[in-house]
Amino acid sequence: MKGFTSIILACCAIGALTVGATLRMAETTPEASNIPVIATEEYGKRLLAQTPELLGPDVADPKMRYTESRLSCGSCHLGTGAEPGTLSLPETIHHYPRFSARVGLSTTIEDRVNECMQRSMNGRPLPKNSAEMLAMAAYIRSLGYHDAAAGANHRKAKEPPAFKTPNRAADLKAGKKIIEEKCASCHQADGSGLLAAALPIHGYVFPPLWGPDSFNTGAGMHRVLTSARFIKARMPLGKPDLTNDEAFDAAGYINSQPRPEMAHLDLDYPDRKTKPIDNGYGPFADPFPLEQHRFGPFAPIESFYKMKPISTSTR
Ligand code: HEC
Ligand code: HEC
Repeated sequence: MKGFTSIILACCAIGALTVGATLRMAETTPEASNIPVIATEEYGKRLLAQTPELLGPDVADPKMRYTESRLSCGSCHLGTGAEPGTLSLPETIHHYPRFSARVGLSTTIEDRVNECMQRSMNGRPLPKNSAEMLAMAAYIRSLGYHDAAAGANHRKAKEPPAFKTPNRAADLKAGKKIIEEKCASCHQADGSGLLAAALPIHGYVFPPLWGPDSFNTGAGMHRVLTSARFIKARMPLGKPDLTNDEAFDAAGYINSQPRPEMAHLDLDYPDRKTKPIDNGYGPFADPFPLEQHRFGPFAPIESFYKMKPISTSTR
């Protein structure tokens, strides 16, 4: 009898959630109103793939406007993180909980998603118990169980050799030329990307590289070595063929352009000795100018910290 009651209760709860969620969807994206908002892996995958439609600045319900950027998570985590390679997410769940040097505390997968929400997506954190956070965590967890081995196996095979940092500062003029020649066909020469059809709520077919809809100054992608590593491995999309020098210069140019500013960045990395050397903002525990941290050359900073090789991880 007890079991029977709880089954009925559970059904009612799911029913209520579905109805409530369907109503909410109906307000926000009429064409998707048949898809109920419950914290499923499928909903999580949609959140990563179509972030602006569900959490972006054009969503009808102001309470659901969590990101100011119109990027999707999948703009950087290719194939919604399932595609093996740089910034893939299959192994992610096994990294948490972990100590984050940036935050100075132990962090969970939910904390990490919220870091990308506030930085890469230039938004605000999702409540930890929201359907959206639970769904994204469920999706990332599911990748860990189904695709982790595949991710590890294919990681190297599908990508060009890993980025190696040239021993010089990034050449921003050369970077501008590379963007015009190899990236502008998709991202446009002014880096502003190409919106899907005429409706901003659908986000971008080709995401912007800088400007108001891009990631903010606190994002991992704002670090020139993280950016260069991604670009060398993944861009131009489908046929990555840049040399180390080209990837470095393109990343330097992208990160020299205007983008949203994140507040209170001086509070990051409470232990400043753990700050990545290519961090795009100070203060640092060394005497090198911010300009050199942003664009190199990195070898002198590297030897100052006696780091070998240069760390490009935010972990
Ligand atoms: C502008 C590019 C960009 C966007 C957009 C983006 N991320 Fe990230 N994400 C990164 C970078 C860079 C890292 C750091 C990778 C590293 O440390 O090597 C990262 C790391 C993560 C991690 C931790 C990975 C790990 O293995 O520890 C998770 C989880 C994550 N992102 C989820 C998301 C979600 C969910 C969204 C959308 C709400 C999102 N990201 C949007 C660039 C992005
Ligand atoms: C064939 C079209 C195409 C070309 C050419 C291309 N990209 Fe991309 N790029 C994309 C798409 C599409 C995405 C988002 C991933 C997705 O939606 O699957 C992306 C994502 C990115 C991102 C992360 C998201 C963001 O907007 O910040 C960066 C950085 C990037 N590209 C840089 C470059 C650079 C640099 C070049 C030139 C060397 C380049 N891309 C060439 C299509 C392209």
